Amino acid sequence: MTMDLFESVADPQPSQEKIAEGAMLSRGFVGSLDAELIGIVRDIEAKAPFRHMVTPGGFRMSVAMTNCGSAGWITDLAGYRYGPNDPETGKPWPVMPPLLRDLAHRAADRAGFADFAPDVCLINCYVPGARLSLHQDKDELDFGAPIVSVSLGLPAIFLFGGLKRSDRTRRFRLEHGDVAVWGGPSRLIFHGIAPLAEGEHLLLGRQRINLTFRKVR
Ligand code: SIN
Ligand code: FE2
Repeated sequence: MTMDLFESVADPQPSQEKIAEGAMLSRGFVGSLDAELIGIVRDIEAKAPFRHMVTPGGFRMSVAMTNCGSAGWITDLAGYRYGPNDPETGKPWPVMPPLLRDLAHRAADRAGFADFAPDVCLINCYVPGARLSLHQDKDELDFGAPIVSVSLGLPAIFLFGGLKRSDRTRRFRLEHGDVAVWGGPSRLIFHGIAPLAEGEHLLLGRQRINLTFRKVR
């Protein structure tokens, strides 16, 4: 009936797709907060600029990173870790704005993880060609909390594998405004981002920005 069509079009709840036990994609969850989020990222990068970090193996990452929160994720020749200060400026990482904390909390709640209180937000900036190879997020002390990942700008292919590096990976397209949450039995799943395709986004141009919220301590 045509009425059903109108009801579903008017539904303000963005669609949610379960991709594994404990892993969800909430399409368009950011909604009209997108411009405000981008403004927040610009404020953060004015204090803690995006930089290409070096892996312990000596490779320069194609993704540029910064952080906000009570600590930040860093990598250099000494290894991967979280630290309270930005090594570039020597100052504490910028505080996590309440709007970010609240968005992550709401996304986690919707995916079935109540009371998510992130203390770190790692911010990744991709340009066409940049990629993030398959990895687990395992530098956090608390695997009881999920990872919440917010995508802005150019679309990306999210590689989502299994608990072993050699497990088959599936590919999911992440668009501007989508939020992925993985926790519980999916918390240590190997994941990554395929090389970003060329494109132009209305708000971000040739960029994709991803925010991942973590409970580190
Ligand atoms: C990450 O795995 O930390 C980021 C994933 C993404 O950029 O979507
Ligand atoms: Fe990750």
